[in-house]
Amino acid sequence: MAESVLEARDIYKSFGSNNVLEGVSVRFYEGRVQALLGVNGAGKSTLVKILQGVYQADKGDILLNGEKIVYSGPADALKRGISMVFQELNMFGEMSVTENIIGSHRIKTHGMINWKACRQSVRAHLDELGISIDETVQVKELSLADQQLVEIARCVYEKPKILFLDEPSSSLSKAEEEILYRLIRRLKETGICVVLITHKMEEVFELCDQLSVLRDGRVTASGDVAEFDVDRITGDMLGKTVDIFKRSSVTNGNYDKVLMEVQKLGIPRKFEDISFKLYEGEILAFAGLVGSGKSELARALFGVNGVKYTGKILVDGKPYAPSAPYDASAQGIGYVPISRKEEGIFTNFEAKSNISSAMLAKLGFFIDRKKEDDITGRMMEEFNVRPRNLHQNIVNFSGGNQQKIVLSRWIAADKRIVLLDEPTRGVDVGAKQEIYDNLRRLASEGIGIIIFSSETNELLSSSDRIIIMREGKMVKELVTAETTSEEILMYSIAGKEAVKEV
Ligand SMILES: Nc1ncnc2c1ncn2[C@@H]1O[C@H](COP(=O)(O)OP(=O)(O)OP(=O)(O)O)[C@@H](O)[C@H]1O
Ligand SMILES: [Mg+2]
Repeated sequence: MAESVLEARDIYKSFGSNNVLEGVSVRFYEGRVQALLGVNGAGKSTLVKILQGVYQADKGDILLNGEKIVYSGPADALKRGISMVFQELNMFGEMSVTENIIGSHRIKTHGMINWKACRQSVRAHLDELGISIDETVQVKELSLADQQLVEIARCVYEKPKILFLDEPSSSLSKAEEEILYRLIRRLKETGICVVLITHKMEEVFELCDQLSVLRDGRVTASGDVAEFDVDRITGDMLGKTVDIFKRSSVTNGNYDKVLMEVQKLGIPRKFEDISFKLYEGEILAFAGLVGSGKSELARALFGVNGVKYTGKILVDGKPYAPSAPYDASAQGIGYVPISRKEEGIFTNFEAKSNISSAMLAKLGFFIDRKKEDDITGRMMEEFNVRPRNLHQNIVNFSGGNQQKIVLSRWIAADKRIVLLDEPTRGVDVGAKQEIYDNLRRLASEGIGIIIFSSETNELLSSSDRIIIMREGKMVKELVTAETTSEEILMYSIAGKEAVKEV
């Protein structure tokens, strides 16, 4: 058996009374891609943060090339060749791609930073990785997907032996995923061990050689990917089998009652000529690649950034011109953004305030604390947020559980229209089903829901109608029950139907 690059041996970690890891042992090998799997809150991020020196284990050993090591912190781990792309991106938005990637390795000539040489080095590095992003632009100007690629490039620039990727593709669309996958394969060829934390099963089978599953603080399975199938993995993750993504049978939309009507909506260079109706009790989906304009559309409908647009929006037949989220909220519209970190969560506030913030009107001018506790408690239960602690700071919840908290906010607020941008980003397979069941229930109560998503399979199992966007335009409307994921992808990528060869 090959010697492992890095090994976690019998690791324990608790946060207060929450025993997150209880004797976890995993080995990581050179030149392999290894998956780390488990439901939201299983302890995946915690484990890799321990291996990265962010947290200290309560008990257990870390071995690097067979030798026990103790880190002084993440910088120390990095020096030893252990690198990590966190679940929430960590870059300097105001700085250029070059500045972010070059980090502390700035090239100097006569004691002065030679930016030209730095740029050239970064360009060569990006080219080698097959990334075509402009090295001179500010990171904040890039799409979330491109930012993710830059972050990975930044870590690889440090020439690590082992690279942990915590849900790297959760905000990427199909086309961008391909770039990421190519990148991972290239890293593997160079002998790096890539550890992939993911909730996407296809990724495990497409990329990984080995996998380990965490459940309730222990490793419940590990081995060669070839020995597993989806059912076995979900069984190991959940401790039971689930029927994933059955197609919902009938629409329960009331097609006599229009909740929202959008007429020829446009924002220069983002999208144009968008017209559609949202009916009472239906789930309407916008599909399309990242960059197709669907996120911008969602933001415009909610009044984010008060952008100027052309065209008209009607809510209940009356003109609605949101210039700020406050306007949208007052009209009974809720919104779950794509980027949790920037727009979604109130960092450093407890879970309770994050849920109740949108329903202040309902709680009265003098907030009824008891009622607030009741409602937020119920929401945490409905969305199965773990741990069920109203007072825990939101940043201390696992990524998937943060997403569930953000989702429950608008649903607690009794909105009539809810806009969701990539609602299941970072959410495990079991919880995805729960979220869609919840959305179905809301729709059956008459709420109109619009999902903006690049997860074709999920749209197929959850929506009533699908509108496909490509390069800022609507290219096709499909009835969900009558379409397939191939058809949706075809329109998303090519904007037209495939010509069948006979
Ligand atoms: N700093 C912290 N303080 C308190 N609890 C924490 C902290 N970090 C993590 N936890 C808890 O540890 C548990 C495991 O979280 P972790 O982030 O490791 O899960 P995960 O497997 O990465 O889940 P996800 O798929 O949702 O990202 C959760 O119950 C979480 O609330
Ligand atoms: Mg995590």
